[in-house]
Amino acid sequence: MNDKYQTIHPRQLFLRHLAQTSPGPLSLEIDRAEGLYLYDTDGKAYLDLIAGIGVSCLGHRHPAVQAAVEAQVNRYWHTLVYGEYVLNPQVKLAALLASQLPGLDAVYFVNSGTEATEGAMKLAKRFTGRPDIVACRNAYHGSTHGAASLMNPVDFTLAYHPMLPGIRHIDFNDEKTLDSINHRTAAVVVETVQAESGITPPKPEFLQALRRRCDETGALLILDEIQAGYGRTGALFAFQHYGIKPDILLLAKGFGGGMPIGAFIAPQHIMEVLSHNPVLGHITTFGGHPVCAAAALATLEVLLSTDLIAQVPAKEALFRQLLVHPEIREVRSAGLWLGVDLGEAEKVQKVIAHCLKNGVITDWFLFNDRTLRIAPPLTIDETTIHKACEVLLEAL
Ligand SMILES: Cc1ncc(COP(=O)(O)O)c(C=O)c1O
Repeated sequence: MNDKYQTIHPRQLFLRHLAQTSPGPLSLEIDRAEGLYLYDTDGKAYLDLIAGIGVSCLGHRHPAVQAAVEAQVNRYWHTLVYGEYVLNPQVKLAALLASQLPGLDAVYFVNSGTEATEGAMKLAKRFTGRPDIVACRNAYHGSTHGAASLMNPVDFTLAYHPMLPGIRHIDFNDEKTLDSINHRTAAVVVETVQAESGITPPKPEFLQALRRRCDETGALLILDEIQAGYGRTGALFAFQHYGIKPDILLLAKGFGGGMPIGAFIAPQHIMEVLSHNPVLGHITTFGGHPVCAAAALATLEVLLSTDLIAQVPAKEALFRQLLVHPEIREVRSAGLWLGVDLGEAEKVQKVIAHCLKNGVITDWFLFNDRTLRIAPPLTIDETTIHKACEVLLEAL
């Protein structure tokens, strides 16, 4: 047996054998994770102030989620491709979701956020018979070819052209651009709160006008709550703040409480077009994997049975109260989700590095490197918020 790999440092193996996504990976060597903290192989604790980019909404290895995973692991794992067998964790999760989403009663489970976007775009085209999709500038909906076609600015996608045809862009929060939605539009894909622009909450009037324009033209409104959902903004779903409802809702990230699962959710009369003429309108082998669905069910049950979501506004206010410094230009927030604008990418990088040295993990945003990302697990407590802000202010 070739045991050479056992003598090479894991960090070297990481650089040598894992596909790299940037020239400067954080390269923390993770040993374990629990609650708000990651621990490296030297035993150093790191406060996860970004929840693995919006995933670990209940912290790492929440006991209820872990117990659900363990119970499911002991029962069955993969059994058949998605959609054939009746699997208890899937059906319970779908029913509980439907109870929280009046009118959206059909759940298609997938593996990730980008697959949820893909599935929803296909569903909208198929249901409406229309060719075009409208999306917002500075939005991120995923990295597979279809979802990436929605991306604008095009810096990240130029190398992959041609992208999907029929994509038009509007400006988030600008009602004047809604005229681009017309009778050729199958769907408008919008994040309820725009994430990667550095946290841009919606103007309620914009979302309401968007809903009206979709109704007028017959376009479906797809709300991407892959980051914004699951309590992050102080409601289970962010759209609940704004008096509107989507035709299709996208979930992933926090949905699985740390396990990989996503979903696109629509009314049954829309979703049913995927099942005939031809059958199998979307196919996925692992979508809604039973172990992930069990984790997602436990996550939702915890969110619904505790006051974690109700505590979000007070925790947001505490962050905002503490994050005052001459170097901070602006703090934009939507619940326990803050963008701290420092005005320069270099400053953001320095703060990230200082925080990392001092055991706090922060990040920047894909389309806004001048802004620092804060999106901790919803389980963060007041004392830890004070501690985190001390480290951040010290860095500044
Ligand atoms: C708003 C939003 N939509 C979609 C995605 C894509 O999700 P995934 O990385 O699971 O494909 C992301 C991921 O960052 C996201 O933030």
